[in-house]
Amino acid sequence: MSEHLLTWYDAHARVLPWRIPPGGGAADPYRIWLSEVMLQQTTVAAVQGYFHRFTARWPTVADLAAAEDADVMAEWAGLGYYARARNLLACARAVMADHGGRFPATRDGLLALPGIGPYTAAAIAAIAFGEAATVVDGNVERVIARLRHVEDPLPAAKPRITRLAEAITPADRPGDYAQAIMDLGATICTPRNPACGICPWMAPCRARAEGIAATLPRKAAK
Ligand code: ADE
Repeated sequence: MSEHLLTWYDAHARVLPWRIPPGGGAADPYRIWLSEVMLQQTTVAAVQGYFHRFTARWPTVADLAAAEDADVMAEWAGLGYYARARNLLACARAVMADHGGRFPATRDGLLALPGIGPYTAAAIAAIAFGEAATVVDGNVERVIARLRHVEDPLPAAKPRITRLAEAITPADRPGDYAQAIMDLGATICTPRNPACGICPWMAPCRARAEGIAATLPRKAAK
């Protein structure tokens, strides 16, 4: 399963600034964390300029931890959900004060930090540290609901979708896999008019076989 998706990702990954470690080499947990917090309620397109400005002004977690609160809030202006910016500073300071300036290298360690919930912890653990943690955001819910033909509505279906997503998370390249499934949801397995004809998971996708991909996931009436 995952190999098809990774082959597709190798050819089609979106080029995003946090995916290019400065000078090459291993992923930088600080940059991964910053991008994931910014991406929590904001689109990839909107985040890119903010990401560039933040990393130019505060290149390391130590720099950010030492920043004035007002400067960080001013750079954040326009991204919205300002609790994220306050948690960002609290988290940077906790990494300095409690972890010697290094992000904890596991999902569980990351979860204990301010502003890092299950999604963000899994994303950082997988992308920055190579842990086989499963990332489940709205894109992933949609992809998995279609792939495995989950007709029960969200949010009740979420635990089942999470288990199905965990079952196909590979031990090899989990960070690339996490980003690949997010990219698939953002570019091919889109909410409307999914591009099933060019999808790397066309063959195994059960919703596509039933002709109902665009109708999933279902949502409970409010
Ligand atoms: N959305 C949130 N995090 C992302 C990532 N690392 N790549 C693509 N889309 C994302």
